[in-house]
Amino acid sequence: MSTPFDRPLTGGVDGSLGQDGGVSSLAGDEERVVESALRPHSLHDFIGQPKVARQLALVLEGAKRRGRPPDHVLLSGPPGLGKTSLALIIGSELGTSVKITSGPAIERSGDLAAMLSNLAPGDVLFIDEIHRIARPAEELLYMAMEDFRVDVVVGKGPGATAIPLEISPFTLVGATTRAGLLTGPLRDRFGFVGQMEFYEPAELQQVLRRSADLLGVELTEDGSAEIAGRSRGTPRIANRLLRRVRDYAEVEADGRVTREVAQAALALYDVDVLGLDRLDRAVLEALVVRFGGGPVGVATLAVAVGEEPNTVEEVCEPFLVRAGLLARTPRGRVATEAAWHHLGHPLPRGGALLGGAGGVIGAPTTPGASSETLFDA
Ligand SMILES: Nc1ncnc2c1ncn2[C@@H]1O[C@H](COP(=O)(O)OP(=O)(O)OP(=O)(O)O)[C@@H](O)[C@H]1O
Ligand SMILES: [Mg+2]
Repeated sequence: MSTPFDRPLTGGVDGSLGQDGGVSSLAGDEERVVESALRPHSLHDFIGQPKVARQLALVLEGAKRRGRPPDHVLLSGPPGLGKTSLALIIGSELGTSVKITSGPAIERSGDLAAMLSNLAPGDVLFIDEIHRIARPAEELLYMAMEDFRVDVVVGKGPGATAIPLEISPFTLVGATTRAGLLTGPLRDRFGFVGQMEFYEPAELQQVLRRSADLLGVELTEDGSAEIAGRSRGTPRIANRLLRRVRDYAEVEADGRVTREVAQAALALYDVDVLGLDRLDRAVLEALVVRFGGGPVGVATLAVAVGEEPNTVEEVCEPFLVRAGLLARTPRGRVATEAAWHHLGHPLPRGGALLGGAGGVIGAPTTPGASSETLFDA
């Protein structure tokens, strides 16, 4: 019998990127296998995220001292920053087992009820992509999270009865790339919300050193700095680039990953100095060239690059925004001055661009200024 627990340990939003060996932050199938080998297994091993890690350590320690399962935990942030890793670490720090499922896998509330009633006391239930859970299941989850009880409805129509079912005290760990899509009541039931941030280059270098040790790769200091700088603040990407650079080092050089080797390899794989991959660049190019810098709605932008709006929004945009290349405004996406520079295009004359003097961040919007639908965020 197939259960929602059958899902592999990692995964992100749907969409198949990286077919060109690119640097999207989503994990492909082959990658999941490698990832589990590189996953940190304790908070001690977990690099970076100082705030979330410290807060979480306190939550877990407090719960351990009281001998009770900790509050429910929500982890939010872009793909590849370590949400799944942290969820599994919560289980291992507590010494309990982690049952894994995901929002899209829970189609009927009955699936969830069965899962909940199978939990042993203190278990961790990890629901990945929790923002995609079906509404009836979500409502069932409210009661389970609050009272460790669910009502199982038996029968249909006027004769239907709700049978209350006790469940063991458990800790729900939810992960989401889109915290904004969670309903208020669901969000309110999490006692701790960890907002994962992009990693600093120095932290990514630490991740790379650890991975290089595990993979048996010789990595020099400047080699790791080169890779870290192009990893878009994301450990998954750092690890992926390391593997590609290792291939290059073994085939084209003496196996050592130095700065020169990393530069040559990354140039070959179309990873630019900021770490933008082909899709990121395509999005920026479309925004700058086809839409004159915007504003343009994300749906339109996605069509222009032949991608799903979700992918553009969840995978490309967070980093483009963080890198100061793109801004989200109420009227749509806008390229900043830095984007024109980065792509090597001359700035349009007289245009009021974001990021320059007289930038338009927070500028009042002109409703109806364009015939396009710009409000799709
Ligand atoms: N803090 C960290 N220290 C070391 N390695 C890390 C860390 N965070 C993530 N990684 C590495 O990055 C990989 C991806 O992390 P993980 O699967 O936990 O990300 P995620 O946030 O769950 O992504 P998604 O949203 O796609 O599910 C892991 O396999 C691990 O190797
Ligand atoms: Mg994950």
